[in-house]
Amino acid sequence: MPGARQLTLPGEPVQGEPVNVTPASVAEAATQHDALRGQAAPPYTSSRRALGQYFTPDVIVEFVYDALEAVRPELVRPAIIDPACGDGAFLGTAIERSVTTPERIWGIEKDAAIAAAWDESGLLARLDGRLVLGDGLDSTALPSHMREGQFDLVVGNPPFARVSCSDVPGGERFLTWRRFAAGRTRGRRRGRPVKVPLEALFLERFAELAAPGGTAAIVLPDGVLANRRLAFLRQWLLTGFTVHAIVAFPRGVFSKTGTTAKTNVIIFSKQRPDPGRCSLLADVDGREPVLQAARRVAQSLRGLQVAQA
Ligand SMILES: C[S@@+](CC[C@H](N)C(=O)[O-])C[C@H]1O[C@@H](n2cnc3c(N)ncnc32)[C@H](O)[C@@H]1O
Repeated sequence: MPGARQLTLPGEPVQGEPVNVTPASVAEAATQHDALRGQAAPPYTSSRRALGQYFTPDVIVEFVYDALEAVRPELVRPAIIDPACGDGAFLGTAIERSVTTPERIWGIEKDAAIAAAWDESGLLARLDGRLVLGDGLDSTALPSHMREGQFDLVVGNPPFARVSCSDVPGGERFLTWRRFAAGRTRGRRRGRPVKVPLEALFLERFAELAAPGGTAAIVLPDGVLANRRLAFLRQWLLTGFTVHAIVAFPRGVFSKTGTTAKTNVIIFSKQRPDPGRCSLLADVDGREPVLQAARRVAQSLRGLQVAQA
């Protein structure tokens, strides 16, 4: 990956190292960081809640790429996709940081009003034909040569919302869809529309889009890590993939964009887990500015990768 530094081992890999950031300092750092980059306010629409339109502060986007650089320093011109790309925060940053070349970057967005921002920001011109207005869960939304299993990096912050199973194109292929659909055909809920957590479907979709050995970084709410009804999904993730890191952010991170959801970034590769490997579990919660904390997490991750190489 261009821009990767010479790797040095900062010490023994640490699991669960606490990184201190207060919600106040997080919000402050996110604001300053966005102001520095001249980021315009995202074009929120009336479908905001239904489509989970809470955009990622640049500070988190930068962290995700720092962390991916640490996990996959060897990548050259990776193919990247954000299947719920909104105004394109992850895609624009991939161009700015020269993570790859623009012709290797793809994005999908469902809401035409949000997609209108691509034109204003110039992203549409740079990613000509590779920004798709469609459903990120729909395997036919992309051209056939760029579908499942083609992307070296799958990045993004998918919508956190509940959708009817009947609204998910090809939903039966997702384990989460099948579990939820099966659970509602019995008892009191019989006959009611079956609703499913969209973010859980997107976790599966990120894995589906990744190439064998490819890596995904996904922002998810706490529920995916803690909700008992999603235990099957955690088992699916932990037994089928290599989880490099789970970084928990405090509530303040997304407050500027209108949600107090507690979020995490999960970074995993599409390869069977190696029992000897460690994962980095970091809780970003304390007094340090978020950018500094995030960089420190990425540094620990880099140490972990080198130690295991
Ligand atoms: C949480 S926002 C994040 C946007 C962007 N990835 C970011 O990090 O700033 C989720 C985006 O997904 C879009 N969305 C919702 N459902 C979708 C779907 N089924 N397919 C593609 N995009 C969808 C929403 O309109 C919204 O723009």
